[in-house]
Amino acid sequence: MNCKSAAPIALFDSGVGGIGVLREVKKLLPQEQFLYFGDTANAPYGEKSHDEVRRLVFSAANRLIPQCKALVLACNTATAVAAKELRQQYPAFPIVGMEPALRPACMVKEHPTILVLATAATLQEEKFAVLREMCEKNATVVSLPAPGIVRLVEAGLSDSPEMDRYLFDLLVPFRHAPPDAVVLGCTHFPFARAAILRALGQNVPLFDGAVGTAHRLESLLREQKLLAPPKATGGILLTASDTRSLPLLSKLLVAP
Ligand code: DGL
Repeated sequence: MNCKSAAPIALFDSGVGGIGVLREVKKLLPQEQFLYFGDTANAPYGEKSHDEVRRLVFSAANRLIPQCKALVLACNTATAVAAKELRQQYPAFPIVGMEPALRPACMVKEHPTILVLATAATLQEEKFAVLREMCEKNATVVSLPAPGIVRLVEAGLSDSPEMDRYLFDLLVPFRHAPPDAVVLGCTHFPFARAAILRALGQNVPLFDGAVGTAHRLESLLREQKLLAPPKATGGILLTASDTRSLPLLSKLLVAP
């Protein structure tokens, strides 16, 4: 066991979306201590410029890294914009990011048409262009920004008439020609899973990256001998840059 193994694992998102990732990570690593930071004072990131998102991610990461043994960027936007550069700055430190789960959607089973919902910022980044090009060998990939989902999830309206109205309008073009799979390429979107399926009017398979990220984190910690001992008592500390969002963070952590 490494002496750092008792330190917490930090998870970071622009807001409340990363809580879905925390839930998956916690299932896999119940003995760990977690420090969650939602930058809710600055959310949404998805409509900000590359430079602004980069600045916010570095500011959070530079503060979190000295307090933890690993950092999970529980945010596709933060990962697309800043993960590569963060890893260059902290080469020995475990940093796990997220990407829209397009690989599993196009490889697990044949899905001829795949709709990727993500933030505008994620879809504009080079990282997504590379992923898309790779998957377009197997499928037709259609991408669509959905900023309204982020805003409504942040407002505690994940499963609400407002969400239904927003998604009904956004997904009109797909209702009569539904895709074969939908990738939820933003960590806020799985909270709107039920409303997305209602708007599509079909039981389309949905893919998100939370489970894959949890497994990647587990194997990285195992490799580096940083896992907490199996009998350690785990715990979660939720923090946010706008503390008014703490009740919502707690609610989403235990939501059915
Ligand atoms: N949850 C984030 C993501 O996975 C970003 C949402 C936002 O702040 O726009 O991309």
